[in-house]
This record gives sequence, structure tokens and C-alpha cells, in this order.
Amino acid sequence: MPGLVRELRLRAGPALRLEQRAAGGEGSVVWDAALVLAKFLERGAPPLPRSRVLELGAGTGAVGIMAAALGANVTLTDLEELQELLAVNIEMNRHLVTGSIQAKVLKWGEDVSEFQPPPDYILMADCIYYEESLEPLLKTLKDLTGPETCVLCCYEQRTMGKNPEIERRYLELLQVDFELEKIPLDKHDEEYRSADIHILNIHRKPTSFPS
Ligand SMILES: C[S@@+](CC[C@H](N)C(=O)[O-])C[C@H]1O[C@@H](n2cnc3c(N)ncnc32)[C@H](O)[C@@H]1O
Repeated sequence: MPGLVRELRLRAGPALRLEQRAAGGEGSVVWDAALVLAKFLERGAPPLPRSRVLELGAGTGAVGIMAAALGANVTLTDLEELQELLAVNIEMNRHLVTGSIQAKVLKWGEDVSEFQPPPDYILMADCIYYEESLEPLLKTLKDLTGPETCVLCCYEQRTMGKNPEIERRYLELLQVDFELEKIPLDKHDEEYRSADIHILNIHRKPTSFPS
């Protein structure tokens, strides 16, 4: 059944159109972190044209579709149950894509050999929200990244329940093998920014590769 369509206007004029599903899981709506990361990409700081981009936990595909509209060659990934929605959203926006785009199943922690060689960018929006996923997610990040891969991870800082502890644990585990730098708020999109939504620029520590 078709759901509510969310529009995200591009600076160039037209809008990305993203179908959402009322009766899906977390991935079937566009989260604020996805809007913040997509509009950050549009500012052009990471040079996306012709780059290889992989999005983890893509949900509706908002971030990766923006990257493809900006000229990147993008693979959106998520669980099997999100593939149909991703296919719908790719088709709705195909006319805006100036790079290329496809969607594939990737469950965190599982084999990533089909996604090699390491992409130039890995994009993640609102993927840090439950404890059991942290170690598989970090394994996937480690398996997918090469020395030149830039991971842009956007997340909303939540204060309720277990969220602060999940965030603390994620950052602790992440820093074993990765260096991270917070992108200052004044570098985010002027409209799509919020003090509680952070973008991290993450790279593998050179010492974390087997010698
Ligand atoms: C909160 S949603 C965010 C969706 C989208 N990135 C956004 O910000 O609008 C989290 C996404 O992570 C995906 N996800 C959760 N656990 C996963 C796992 N173990 N492997 C792969 N994807 C997973 C969900 O299916 C969902 O699409």
C-alpha cells in the first residue's frame, strides 16, 4: 500500500521524493539524522562525483539517493525487508541521479565480500540505537573500510532510557580501531541542522590494519 511521500528539496530546484510506510519498521520512515546528513552532503564538502559510496541501514534511502543525485556511484544497503521500499524510492528519483544507484541486502556482521574493494565513503544515518547491533555494526565497518575510506556517521543524541549508554558504548568501541572527528554545526546545512544531531567523520587508524 503506498504511504506518505516525504519531499526533500534540492538546492538545484527539484525535490527528492521518498515514500514512507506507516506499517514498516524503523527503516520505513525518513529520520531527522538522514535529512541532516543528506543536506550536509549537498553542501559539497566531501567531493562525491564519481566516488564509490555505500550506505548502511539506508531505510528509505534518503541519504544515498542524495549522494547519487550529486554524482556518486551508490550502493544502498539494508535488511531484506527494506529492499522493496528502497526499490520504489530509487525508481521515484531515478531522473535525478547523475551517478548510479542500486540496493542490496547487507545485514551487519555478515559477509561483505561482494562489497569489496573498500568504498570511498560509507554513509550511516541513525544506525546507533540498539545494543545488540553495536558489535556486528562495528565488525561490518571494520570489514568494509580501507585506509582511504571516509565514514560519515550522523546520529541523534537521545537522552531517554538506554540511549545515552548505547551511544557511549558505541563511541568507546569505535575508537579502538577508528579515529573520529565531529563536524562542527556551522558546517552543517543552515536549515537542516540541530544541536542534538551530530555528524562524525571517521577513519581507520593506520595501526588497525594487519601488518
Ligand atoms: C532508525 S533506522 C534509520 C534509517 C535511515 N538511515 C534514516 O536515517 O532515515 C535504522 C536502519 O538500520 C537498519 N538496521 C537495523 N539493524 C540492522 C542490521 N542488523 N543490519 C542491517 N541493517 C540494520 C534498519 O532496517 C533501519 O533501516
